[in-house]
Amino acid sequence: MIPEAVDKPAPVAGARVVRLRNFRNYADEEVELGDGLNVFFGANAQGKTNFLEALHLLSTTRLLRGSRDAEAIREGEAGAWVAAEVLGTRTEVAVKLERGAAKRVSLNGLPLRRAADIIGRLPSVCASLLDLPILTGEPSVRRSFMDLELSQLSGLYLHHFAQYKRALEQRNALLRSAQEGFVAAEAFEPWEHHMAEHGAPLRAFRGRFWADLEPLAGEVQRHMGSGESLRLAYQQKDDARTPDELLELFRRNRAVDVARGGTTAGPHRDDVRIEVGGRDARAFGSQGQQRTAALAIKLGTLELERRERGLPPLLLLDDILSDLDESRRERLAEWVLERAGQAVLTCTDLDLVSPEVRRRARLFLVRSGRVEAR
Ligand SMILES: Nc1ncnc2c1ncn2[C@@H]1O[C@H](COP(=O)(O)OP(=O)(O)OP(=O)(O)O)[C@@H](O)[C@H]1O
Ligand SMILES: [Mg+2]
Repeated sequence: MIPEAVDKPAPVAGARVVRLRNFRNYADEEVELGDGLNVFFGANAQGKTNFLEALHLLSTTRLLRGSRDAEAIREGEAGAWVAAEVLGTRTEVAVKLERGAAKRVSLNGLPLRRAADIIGRLPSVCASLLDLPILTGEPSVRRSFMDLELSQLSGLYLHHFAQYKRALEQRNALLRSAQEGFVAAEAFEPWEHHMAEHGAPLRAFRGRFWADLEPLAGEVQRHMGSGESLRLAYQQKDDARTPDELLELFRRNRAVDVARGGTTAGPHRDDVRIEVGGRDARAFGSQGQQRTAALAIKLGTLELERRERGLPPLLLLDDILSDLDESRRERLAEWVLERAGQAVLTCTDLDLVSPEVRRRARLFLVRSGRVEAR
């Protein structure tokens, strides 16, 4: 007899049972999600975004609002713990937060060495109003976005990124020392070599990322109803591509960099050009255009991850319905039901979700840190 395959992967990536303890306004809660669309609704300040944030933390090791980890621990408590069973597997991923200590992650109760080791277990894409700075903000916002996305997509990228960052910090420390006194040129060499070796693949990965994302996000943008084109292009601040060219750049800039007290050129200074309807979206886009483009970029990354893994990642949609007109809401819901896998959507007003979509979704009422299936 052929034994049954027990760990057959689920057709979608996502979470089944989610547990929260002393996380934000949750004391002790357990929620069983459906495989498709899950709608969390309720009044303001009840815990809808907090629930989404717990999933985001399990997926990326990061909180949503850029707050410090300890801020997510329930007031008056020493620590918080969140966990999720990954769909179609027998694994439970968990994150533990403690005041005054680094966060700890575990897999089936076994602690992992580094928090980042959990990344990739519960892949997700999150879209919310916090994405708007991808369109309107400083270059660093776009860099963080792509670094996080690429780190989720590729362990190799994460490796190059971590190595580059470490070497950059070392070089910057040397540059600051050189402002105080003499630092021999040889001291810079190993770090610049390291930066060149790991920086070149970073640029290659990023260039490909935006080129691949462009048609996917463009399709979402058209579907959402604007009919406008979306152009996405990685922009290097200098034209070094190979490790040798980067090394040459770092050597050449050494004197300038000492004067500035920091590394002025390299992959950590690059940006992305985003055009909507043929114009730079940052300078010329209307708020509606910027919001739609931010959403299209996020949903485009979902397609990218599906293509990479064969499974759509968990989609987290925080409070985005109220910003869209009725036809865009409908088309977004349609897109989510047809193209996404598991999705968790929050809204204050269930009326923003059409009866047809409601019938196909699992509904949860959130009230004072309690979640009630409806
Ligand atoms: N560490 C914490 N301990 C206790 N409560 C917290 C903590 N952090 C946040 N909260 C509370 O959680 C509530 C906000 O929850 P959340 O952001 O999930 O609301 P929401 O349901 O998404 O509301 P909205 O519709 O306004 O977005 C606030 O009342 C806030 O005070
Ligand atoms: Mg909210």
